[in-house]
Amino acid sequence: ALGEYAIDERRGFVPGEDPVDALPARYRPWEDVAGNIAALIMTGRLRAAIASMPVLTPDGLASGGERERAMLLLSCLANAYVHGTGPLARTLPAPVARPLYELARLLDRAPIVSHASIVLNNWRRIDAAEPLSMSNADTQLTFLGGVDEKWFYLATVGVELSGAPGLPLLVQAQHAVAAEDHARLAEALLGLAKVLGRVTEAVLDVERWCDPYVFYHRIRPFLTGWPAPGLRFEGVDREPLVLAGGSAAQSSLIQAFDAGLDVEHRDELTAGFLTGMRAYMPGPHRRFLQDLESGPSVRDFAARHREELPRLSEAYNAAVSGLARLRAQHIGITGRYINRFEQGADAKGTGGSDFIGFLRRSREETVERLLP
Ligand code: ALA
Repeated sequence: ALGEYAIDERRGFVPGEDPVDALPARYRPWEDVAGNIAALIMTGRLRAAIASMPVLTPDGLASGGERERAMLLLSCLANAYVHGTGPLARTLPAPVARPLYELARLLDRAPIVSHASIVLNNWRRIDAAEPLSMSNADTQLTFLGGVDEKWFYLATVGVELSGAPGLPLLVQAQHAVAAEDHARLAEALLGLAKVLGRVTEAVLDVERWCDPYVFYHRIRPFLTGWPAPGLRFEGVDREPLVLAGGSAAQSSLIQAFDAGLDVEHRDELTAGFLTGMRAYMPGPHRRFLQDLESGPSVRDFAARHREELPRLSEAYNAAVSGLARLRAQHIGITGRYINRFEQGADAKGTGGSDFIGFLRRSREETVERLLP
């Protein structure tokens, strides 16, 4: 069942319980600095404010929800510290470094701002009596703030929500293969094609409130990772950390479609990056991808029955084409939001990839899986 993988029936990879939006009183220093983050960055006070916080341990956090809230605060404080004012910082002070490192260990993912924190666990419903939707959500935390930044994260929540109905369909497709139930398989694949159409629309919806100039200059820098030689965590006994910034490749949703449809990424531009990004995902979601990958191949089944069941191949191809179109639109968006502002040729995504090559190759690898 999907619940074992921390997947919600309606919200998919978005938590089924609304994210906690305030920590217990003893964590007040984290809440206070995070609550003033934009003003502290703008006035050049952020680094001093972080350095003078007390060093607290995450031991007093009572639930998974509180740990997620703390991870959101601390990972944003870390990136504001590194990228916020002045030259790139090389050392993260102990008041953030120590609890952030410990929390990341508890949550089983990398100690840096990621899709799991800034998107999946960074929202609240405006009207608690109404369900979560794109017309009933606000962010909890932003770096500089404003509708463009809020919407960038919220539109990405919208992408996850629009894809949520696809997760049970991916499971249904593999079950149908195991049971050799081709009618049920075709139904799941056609359902997936529809869902992928909605996911593509949700991706394009980012343009509604997120202005490309604001994105490139005021949002994107804070989502960037820590390049070599890395960031030293004061008070944590280990080498400086070289980590990727937030990236759509950290969304378990897109990788779930790949895994469930048996779309393989083997190119040097794609394979390592996609696998590497799993270390930034919540552990249960990572396990879901692994289990989908070790399940029966929907593609092999459709290919085997191509002669007597051409409809099955068509349904498979409809789903894979939907995924290819999603990737084509993602390439289009990077042109409007990133490339037009880049001067040099070697544009890197916030996840650290050569994103133009990566996205193109991922799209080609998707198309290559279409059945003849
Ligand atoms: N991954 C996105 C970028 O590179 C946020 O701009």
